[in-house]
Amino acid sequence: MTMEAGDDVKIPHHVAIIMDGNGRWAAGRGLPRIKGHKAGSAVIEDIIDAAVKMGIKHLSLYAFSTENWRRPDAEVSVIMSLLRFYLRLHTSRFRNRGVRFHFLGELETMPESIKRDVVELEAATAGESKMVFHLAVNYGSRMELVKATQSCIKDGLKADEIDESAINSRLWTADVPDVDLLIRTSGELRISNFLLWQCAYAEFYFTDCHWPDFNQERFSDALESFASRERRFGRI
Ligand code: FPP
Repeated sequence: MTMEAGDDVKIPHHVAIIMDGNGRWAAGRGLPRIKGHKAGSAVIEDIIDAAVKMGIKHLSLYAFSTENWRRPDAEVSVIMSLLRFYLRLHTSRFRNRGVRFHFLGELETMPESIKRDVVELEAATAGESKMVFHLAVNYGSRMELVKATQSCIKDGLKADEIDESAINSRLWTADVPDVDLLIRTSGELRISNFLLWQCAYAEFYFTDCHWPDFNQERFSDALESFASRERRFGRI
């Protein structure tokens, strides 16, 4: 069953997804890993559509971590090409759906052409308000926290002025609500340095399905599971 906006259920404000299993999906078909990444990038569009339809306000997808630079050069280069293609092709698709694009990660050290495309896409979609799509690239949660702490010190904050809101407002997710639901595909039960601070009270949903096989119906299953849970945020 696919959930629809307006159904009387709890909808998470912020859904984050670790898109895992592209390599295994490809290996299972005797294909090179890069085919898995290509198939995986196509799924992103369906999930954005479903999230907008459901009234989700923030969707964060983990596409490339700070650790992923250690992968073979050829694989890194394919993921970067997919990213370039994605950034250039999707401006009107984002606008038509009312989606604002946000690059989540360290942009400074990315290749110049990608930086330019990100700045353009963020500017072109800045007025959209149905949902914010955060694409995590060159993202590592520990790095994000270290940088936020350094920024507190650079801003001259004293030790007792460094509180949760001082850190929160210096993260790449400043002004973004905490994650309500974290989904990870492909059977691994790990968080892999993704939104560690923001997931403090997130509900976790793991599925064995590899990312290229994930679809709107499976997304809906995850949302149904979320809707059935009782969240206590540390209370009894
Ligand atoms: C995890 O699968 C996936 C990634 C590290 C990359 C995710 C990238 C995409 C979905 C495509 C890129 C799209 C854009 C828009 C940049 P894995 O390779 O770790 O799979 P495995 O664990 O089965 O080896």
